[in-house]
Amino acid sequence: MHILITGGTGYIGTVLVEESVKAGHSTYVLTRNKEKSQALEKQGVKVIIGDMLQDGQWQQKINEMDAVIHLAAPPTWGKKVTKKVALSYADGHLQLTKRLFEAIDPQQLKRLIFVGGTSYFGDSGNKSPKTESFQAEPKGWGPYISPSIKYAKEKITEGYPASIVYPAQIYGPSSWMEQLYLQPLFTNKPVTSLKGYSPYFSPIHIEDCARAFLHLIEYGEIGEDYIISDLQQLPSEVLRDEIIKLMGVTDPKIRAVPRWLCQLVLGPVLTEYATAHTNFSSKKLQETGFKFRYPTYKEGLPQVVEAWLKMQS
Ligand SMILES: NC(=O)c1ccc[n+]([C@@H]2O[C@H](COP(=O)([O-])OP(=O)(O)OC[C@H]3O[C@@H](n4cnc5c(N)ncnc54)[C@H](OP(=O)(O)O)[C@@H]3O)[C@@H](O)[C@H]2O)c1
Repeated sequence: MHILITGGTGYIGTVLVEESVKAGHSTYVLTRNKEKSQALEKQGVKVIIGDMLQDGQWQQKINEMDAVIHLAAPPTWGKKVTKKVALSYADGHLQLTKRLFEAIDPQQLKRLIFVGGTSYFGDSGNKSPKTESFQAEPKGWGPYISPSIKYAKEKITEGYPASIVYPAQIYGPSSWMEQLYLQPLFTNKPVTSLKGYSPYFSPIHIEDCARAFLHLIEYGEIGEDYIISDLQQLPSEVLRDEIIKLMGVTDPKIRAVPRWLCQLVLGPVLTEYATAHTNFSSKKLQETGFKFRYPTYKEGLPQVVEAWLKMQS
């Protein structure tokens, strides 16, 4: 299949590109950054240089594809997120979404995988895993991706061949897992946790997240929503303690930060994200025949820790 990945140079995109090439797809990446093309071309990827906010070759290319996986988004991670920052994120996200759908000819493109996130569904509570029909109030980043998701849903009812996917906590050897746990543990620094909170996580190994997107191009249904998480939801403290064990740290330093301090340092959006339960089931994804490479964190975390430690040596 010919697959175009927007955001193919980002956290999820980098792994998605590897999995797509490995699966034998003719893989295209749209990036604004010419410097990234050489490394991608070495992987056998065809690079399209372009900015989705500007007209360019990408708009024509998009309709020559069998499928598009849309990951391009404004940056989210690594800084304090005030309401103002989040509103500008929402605006940027929606602009990218509109430009994407404006470029697509629904008669030509066979399938679009549009990537959202479980924060759209809101706080799941910790009692039982919730499914795609659950709708609380969007939490954390949720309110700021909602305009894009609502727009994508409208376009689907107009006949665009899209499925919306909602990954939960995507873990791998970089991004939040590295910053929150791996790096501090490696350098004997304290691991930070929120005092009085151990919200549920629904982890998904980054390779399985990428594989699920590719799987749904073929086996998902147009117009359907799919939650992407693995088979075991768990309190975040259990996940943290497993990482500590795998990193071989016997006397970890834990810094328990009160909510008000978290709010001050990270801002209201990330604080809300860090305190809401993400207890979601991927039953619907599983019913399409998807098989996990890492069915739970017990299989996935050792691989991530080993890969990260290898990168340090
Ligand atoms: N990270 C997570 O744990 C997580 C969990 C659930 C859902 N999600 C969702 O998944 C998506 C991707 O997340 P991520 O963490 O992989 O993002 P990321 O690392 O921040 O990457 C963002 C990508 O967007 C591209 N991009 C931004 N503006 C663009 C523009 N104007 N034109 C073309 N490309 C543009 C960038 O490409 P260039 O800079 O190369 O142009 C980059 O590759 C987001 O929608 C996010 O909300 C993420």
